[in-house]
Amino acid sequence: MKAIVYKGPRDVVVKKVPDAKIKKATDVLVKITTTNICGSDLHMYEGRTNMEPGRIFGHENLGTVIEIGSAVDRVKRGDRVCMPFNISCGFCENCERGLTGFCLTTNPGNAGAAYGFAGMGPYSGGQAELLRVPYADFNCLVLPPDADEKENDYVMLSDIFPTGYHATELAGVQAGDSVVIYGAGPVGLMAAYSSIIKGAGKVMVVDMHKDRLALAEKIGAIAVNDSDGSGVEQVMALTAGIGADRGCECVGYQCCDHKGHEVPNLTMNNLVKTVRPTGGIGVVGVFIPEDPHAKDKLARQGQIAFDFGQFWIKGQHIGTGQANVKAYNRKLCRLIAEGKAKPSFIISHELPLDRAVEAYENFDARKDGWTKVVLKPGH
Ligand SMILES: NC(=O)c1ccc[n+]([C@@H]2O[C@H](COP(=O)([O-])OP(=O)(O)OC[C@H]3O[C@@H](n4cnc5c(N)ncnc54)[C@H](O)[C@@H]3O)[C@@H](O)[C@H]2O)c1
Ligand SMILES: [Zn+2]
Ligand SMILES: [Zn+2]
Repeated sequence: MKAIVYKGPRDVVVKKVPDAKIKKATDVLVKITTTNICGSDLHMYEGRTNMEPGRIFGHENLGTVIEIGSAVDRVKRGDRVCMPFNISCGFCENCERGLTGFCLTTNPGNAGAAYGFAGMGPYSGGQAELLRVPYADFNCLVLPPDADEKENDYVMLSDIFPTGYHATELAGVQAGDSVVIYGAGPVGLMAAYSSIIKGAGKVMVVDMHKDRLALAEKIGAIAVNDSDGSGVEQVMALTAGIGADRGCECVGYQCCDHKGHEVPNLTMNNLVKTVRPTGGIGVVGVFIPEDPHAKDKLARQGQIAFDFGQFWIKGQHIGTGQANVKAYNRKLCRLIAEGKAKPSFIISHELPLDRAVEAYENFDARKDGWTKVVLKPGH
């Protein structure tokens, strides 16, 4: 099969590799029809994780089941399925509580596994023609009959739509709330979209990229352009000097100042500043336990200089971590099926797998007009 293989920092190649295969009776084999590039892939692509060369990227996957293991009951050959990026067992203590991002079975010694992901188990990704799906009865979301027509919407259920929604859940967004979101990448835009779906009163999205901010405006959020470094003041002015009720971090440890220099504590401290006293903060942007290639000394050890005193005095609370996709994907799927949500609005490029090298280069450069790339291995 053809797949996107990581060779080293900013170096991926599309090449023939051995076909993915069923390994356990509980697996299915999926022929991938859509697979996305994610901001999480970029941390790995840039060589800022311990991703091993030779591995296949891709954790946002949708396709058709072509083979089923002997112990699979529910999923059938021919089903159109979308897989959560988390690989989870369904029977461990965390999965039983719905915390499938922290499965204790699928990545022994750690909590949480994913396809094609640094530090999240040995599983190959789906930026390929075929994908092995473990514990398939639990992990496959079988899609409604309009799956082909709405494929570019449903594929967002693999990660960024539930992840954006999770950010709003961690922050505690409710109807009428004001919400500030740092990052207008795919995840930030989905956090804004989820806030709007929940009936938030005012949604503000902070970024430096005009194309991404324009998408935030398109769905009814207020774009806060931080390209002159005035984002915090703008948010305070928009909230009568009090700050937003809720805040979402949708950037992660490689966040930058308006000049493009990495400042790892910037978004977290900006959230403390721009969320009101007793407000909630949801952090889905990735932070990692060590970042040996960081310029910042603390960041190399996975630490940031966090304004804990301000945070404490303001009585704010924080929720963090990988999204538990399965906690939300079924309900968000219904919103798509009923025509109430259309997360494909963020897609800028639909390309065959063969064009993955240029797709990675452009998306990594946050090049104007490259807001989200979906790859079509069958084309
Ligand atoms: N928790 C999870 O389950 C989960 C799932 C998916 C992605 N993620 C993470 O979410 C983060 C965002 O993903 P994405 O696909 O949207 O990535 P992305 O890199 O495309 O978008 C990040 C955006 O943040 C902006 N940005 C940088 N510094 C900023 C700052 N100081 N203030 C405001 N905006 C700033 C960038 O300009 C960019 O538009 C990444 O860290 C990704 O790994 C987490
Ligand atoms: Zn992703
Ligand atoms: Zn589990």
